[in-house]
Amino acid sequence: MNLDIVILAAGKGTRMGSSLPKVLASLAGRPMLEHVLDSVSQLKKTKLHVVVGHEAQQVRKTFSGNKKINWIKQTKQLGTGHAVKQATNHIRSNSNVVILYGDVPLISETTISKLAKLASKGPALLTFNKENPTGYGRIVRGSRNKIEAIIEEKDASPSEKEISEVNSGIMAFKAKDLIRLLGKIKNNNKAKEFYLTDTVHEAHLEKLNIQSLSLSDTNEVLGCNTLEELQALEKAYHIFTAKKFLNKGVSFADIEKVKFRGNISIEKGAFIDENVIFEGTVSIGTNAKIGPGCIISNSKIGKNAKLLAYSFVEESMLESNAKAGPFAHVGVQTRMEEGAEIGNFVETKRSNIGANSKAKHLAYIGDGRIGKGVNIGAGTIFCNYDGVKKHITKIEDDAFIGSNSALVAPLTIGAKSYIGSGSVVTKNVGKGQLAIGRGRQKNMPNRKK
Ligand code: UD1
Ligand code: CA
Repeated sequence: MNLDIVILAAGKGTRMGSSLPKVLASLAGRPMLEHVLDSVSQLKKTKLHVVVGHEAQQVRKTFSGNKKINWIKQTKQLGTGHAVKQATNHIRSNSNVVILYGDVPLISETTISKLAKLASKGPALLTFNKENPTGYGRIVRGSRNKIEAIIEEKDASPSEKEISEVNSGIMAFKAKDLIRLLGKIKNNNKAKEFYLTDTVHEAHLEKLNIQSLSLSDTNEVLGCNTLEELQALEKAYHIFTAKKFLNKGVSFADIEKVKFRGNISIEKGAFIDENVIFEGTVSIGTNAKIGPGCIISNSKIGKNAKLLAYSFVEESMLESNAKAGPFAHVGVQTRMEEGAEIGNFVETKRSNIGANSKAKHLAYIGDGRIGKGVNIGAGTIFCNYDGVKKHITKIEDDAFIGSNSALVAPLTIGAKSYIGSGSVVTKNVGKGQLAIGRGRQKNMPNRKK
């Protein structure tokens, strides 16, 4: 079965009260339309059309990396039916066509597939029951419970407004039916728009076999017209995503207290504590443990790695069995190799921390190239910046840096060398040497009060 997908994204989103086109409004850190595009990305034998109008250039630019999209312009926003009409010349005549809405972003691939198949029997609607159906088109059923029409909120009579079965907006048709039915709709309604939903009554008049698919989990079909609805979607999204991971074997302290703002992957056996935020592209390995209050942004956490409470990891990588925190800041471009550890109030930046090397308390590691088995004492500072340029500090395997040392870069500290506590190290230290760079202690006799 060929599948043509038409996504409607031309509307202005007046009710959102923002100048940003609605389909670019941020849901879980990504534009709403991106969620829809993700859901269709794996479908087979598909042609993808996106109808844009309001701020079309901005929308196209946002997704310029997606070469699968056939962009279609709807110059004037004359309604959802009119929007779909703009795409009909591009649709393959032997296809089933699924219509999706840029403002119904959580639709799943599975549901789209089911609806597309159902359309081989006749026009297929995705409906759901909503306690407070305000704003949605109502599904009107007649004798033998057959669908006869969809009535929009604006045009509904008081008794029609009582109907709690509503239109998700998402529909599927055989291409030929769709094109013929669209030819019949008019704009004689309150909004003076060409409603896609009116094709349903036309299909009823043609005695087509109208199908419906009803969803029990309504999160998938929540629409977004207002900021309040966006809030509801945002909440639903994170819980929905946590549940997906839960079913794959990831554990959570509380699925309602984790945020997934981006493309997140988590392997089974991992544990995520409360108030964790994932941002951007993040992957979490098998059996990794993420403590409470951690923020992980565009980073990779390896298997069995541990991030302890209230740590922040950005653009970095923890290899397997590495450990950071509590209260650690693994800053940009840090690579912690297998079994490396940093502890509380340690900040790293553009540094490589070799296997099993440790900096357990209060340190700044900037532009460091640290070998294996190195011990960095409490309070050590990598003085990487001379006011003009950043410089590199290289520490070779098994060196020991005493507490409260200042390492003034550029600097190389040799393997198995030892830096005495409180040293200011400005000259390279050779392999196996002991370096002490501090004032000598003098003990005076006979101290008087
Ligand atoms: C629509 C449905 C309604 C359904 C609801 C579900 C119609 C007439 N009504 O109402 O039955 O319950 O969605 O969320 O279809 N758009 C265009 N061009 C236009 C108009 C709209 O591309 O000329 C796009 C919008 O960008 C949006 C989508 O179509 O992504 C839906 O438009 P919107 O105005 O939000 O329709 P609703 O009033 O929500
Ligand atoms: Ca809408």
